[in-house]
Amino acid sequence: MESTVDTNTAVRATALSLESVSRRYGRRGGGGREAIALDAVSCAVPAGSFTAVVGPSGSGKSTFLQCAAGLDRPTAGTVRVGGTDLGSLSEAALTRLRRDRIGFVFQSHALNLVPSLNIEENVVLPLVLAGADPTDERVLARGRDLLARVGLAGRGGQGPATLSGGQQQRVAVARALVTEPDVIFADEPTASLDPESASLVLGLLRDAVRIDGRTVVMVTHDPVAASWADTVLTMDGGRLR
Ligand SMILES: Nc1ncnc2c1ncn2[C@@H]1O[C@H](COP(=O)(O)OP(=O)(O)OP(=O)(O)O)[C@@H](O)[C@H]1O
Ligand SMILES: [Mg+2]
Repeated sequence: MESTVDTNTAVRATALSLESVSRRYGRRGGGGREAIALDAVSCAVPAGSFTAVVGPSGSGKSTFLQCAAGLDRPTAGTVRVGGTDLGSLSEAALTRLRRDRIGFVFQSHALNLVPSLNIEENVVLPLVLAGADPTDERVLARGRDLLARVGLAGRGGQGPATLSGGQQQRVAVARALVTEPDVIFADEPTASLDPESASLVLGLLRDAVRIDGRTVVMVTHDPVAASWADTVLTMDGGRLR
């Protein structure tokens, strides 16, 4: 389908692609120059790979992630997740695609979990939002399995506030895995963690790729975190270097 892929990537499906994606922000009040947060970025991320996006502050990393994950609409260009052109979708269809085919882990563990739900309910929330019965034994078992996977077996009944920041971030990874998404996006998932907790979270993301064949795209400014990835994309001034 794409003429630029080499034989190595041609045998693997492309989980995420950007073609000449730009995101401009107009100045409020009409004065001054517009900001170009993303400047005609193109890339293809193979399924089953772990990609880190690095670059200086303001280089466009978060904008890249937001556009790639369908949380923001680019000003120009095409984003495809699992072959679907996000720009062709209505808001409702885009919301469904984000819910069913994309997993998210955000920077602050405080933003990741719903405080009024226990951690097992947080893990299965994407399934429940998609219509699953939260009392269904298969749904509950899936939540328990994922909590065991992230080292928190038996803690499902606790509230998020009773866990450390690193433990909450591991719950966020479990939740990002629950729908078996095409792509898991993480924006600075280890930024607020000590090195040991950061390693645990990065190991979970790497295992999601190596064991489950998931695709992970992670923004980080930390070279140590980036070293866990197979591929490092460097952004500078809204472009990929
Ligand atoms: N809502 C917005 N309105 C105007 N400009 C914006 C907006 N969001 C981002 N920008 C600009 O776009 C550029 C890229 O921002 P972005 O947040 O993507 O950078 P980043 O690489 O994630 O930075 P950091 O490492 O500090 O998180 C910056 O110049 C920023 O000022
Ligand atoms: Mg950012």
